[in-house]
Amino acid sequence: MPEVVRFSVSTEERLLRRFDALIDAQGYANRSEAIRDLIRGALVEDALADEDSDAVGTVTLVYDHHFSDLSDKLTEHQHTHHESIVSTLHIHLDHHHCLEVIVLRGRIGEIKRLADSLIGTKGVKHGRFVATTASDAVI
Ligand code: NI
Repeated sequence: MPEVVRFSVSTEERLLRRFDALIDAQGYANRSEAIRDLIRGALVEDALADEDSDAVGTVTLVYDHHFSDLSDKLTEHQHTHHESIVSTLHIHLDHHHCLEVIVLRGRIGEIKRLADSLIGTKGVKHGRFVATTASDAVI
């Protein structure tokens, strides 16, 4: 287990009260856990600013599979980039709509472009890309 160090932070009381209310609403057990997550979030964001950094991410898509040849296009696109795609989860939401969660791994610049092109495919109703670092040096 890594060594744990303590440090103190000075801030305005009003800011701290608002922070405490926020992290309480978010379910944090204490400030330390919340601050550790903020630090990790900043480090991940910084790591992902480098287009060549190793990353993993998910693309969530919602689309109507009756729309033109959209299902075929999305599948074809994923086959073309199979080296970046770890797994795909497909759920039939209702008679028309599909939810697809695609797990991507690779250089952040590449998987972000792939995610954008999947989300931007004509007929996709909603899409979101979430990424984190794959480097254990950061987290
Ligand atoms: Ni479906």
